[in-house]
Amino acid sequence: MNVLAIETSCDETSAAVVRDDLAVLSNIVLSQDEIHAPFGGVVPELASRQHLKSIGPVVRESLATAGVSLEALDYYAVTQGPGLIGSLLVGLCFAKGLAYYHQKPVLGIDHIQAHIESAFLENPGLAFPILALVVSGGHTSLFILKRKLRYQLLGRTRDDAAGEALDKIAKFLDLGYPGGPVIQKLGAAGDPGRFEFAVPRMSDRSLDFSFSGLKTAALRIIRGNGIVKDGPRLADFLASFENAISRALLRNVARAAEKVKPKSLILCGGVARNKRLRAAFENLAVERGLQHAIPSPKLCTDNAAMVGALAWAQVKTLKKVPLSLDLDAYPRQKGSNLHI
Ligand code: KG4
Ligand code: ZN
Repeated sequence: MNVLAIETSCDETSAAVVRDDLAVLSNIVLSQDEIHAPFGGVVPELASRQHLKSIGPVVRESLATAGVSLEALDYYAVTQGPGLIGSLLVGLCFAKGLAYYHQKPVLGIDHIQAHIESAFLENPGLAFPILALVVSGGHTSLFILKRKLRYQLLGRTRDDAAGEALDKIAKFLDLGYPGGPVIQKLGAAGDPGRFEFAVPRMSDRSLDFSFSGLKTAALRIIRGNGIVKDGPRLADFLASFENAISRALLRNVARAAEKVKPKSLILCGGVARNKRLRAAFENLAVERGLQHAIPSPKLCTDNAAMVGALAWAQVKTLKKVPLSLDLDAYPRQKGSNLHI
């Protein structure tokens, strides 16, 4: 059986065909980076207009690569939220139109849960309970999954997402968009201990994150030390900033691990492509004797294979999968924090 999965929550148009044994037959991702780069961030109106142009060709290419016809599909799955409403609606309407015409069920998929599910594509045997850190341009959230598909939110960012902080500092220094990859590249040879950042602590001892303080500290260091694009101290500054973001993320993972005693750790989302963060996360898992999964880079950034993976998990695990053409887009993350 095959699902056609569609993801258009932000600025990537993606379609994938995923088989029920989780073989990814195709995973086409068309990035809009070039369109948004001049603005240093995603422009929602431009994103939805570009999705409209791209969705047809991307779905067609996905089916052709997989060698599967529309008639041979068993399910449709599409990201419902959170994300940019205009962008989400393009994918939703496209999937619903196809599903209606071909009289096949369509599943509405949560983007953040799909990021977590991406880890199971390459590591299907991860042991529960699992502590999962989702870290991207729009989200920074920590979940505990005691069982498959049971997500309990432990903490989330109270201001910027980690990727957003990287993107904003890159924009300030005129380094380009998206900021994460360019900061990684230009900071690779830098000294991560050269500039000191105090990693913020929540006064209420919660597992929430905050990155606005780090951003302000970064701006102070930039101004105080004359850090500029192509300047001699740029690499050290970028390495130090990246390191501070990584420490802020991992401190909460370590604190949560103490409390909830997981068997496995997952790191996922676009920022999980970061080499420094991947290495530090792996160290943390190994030190604590925990299984861990960090998806390969192409599965970290937004892609439809993760949407297909979650669709199959729902079909196989849930007694009753909500299947309705009455799906609407939602902009924000669902659910409130769990107090532990
Ligand atoms: O998951 P994603 O593709 O989209 C959202 O759902 O937000 O994540 C995009 C984010 C951007 O902020 C980008 O700067 C960041 O992921 N990113 C990275 C790297 N590659 C992408 N951050 C740090 N290091 C990277 N190598
Ligand atoms: Zn994402």
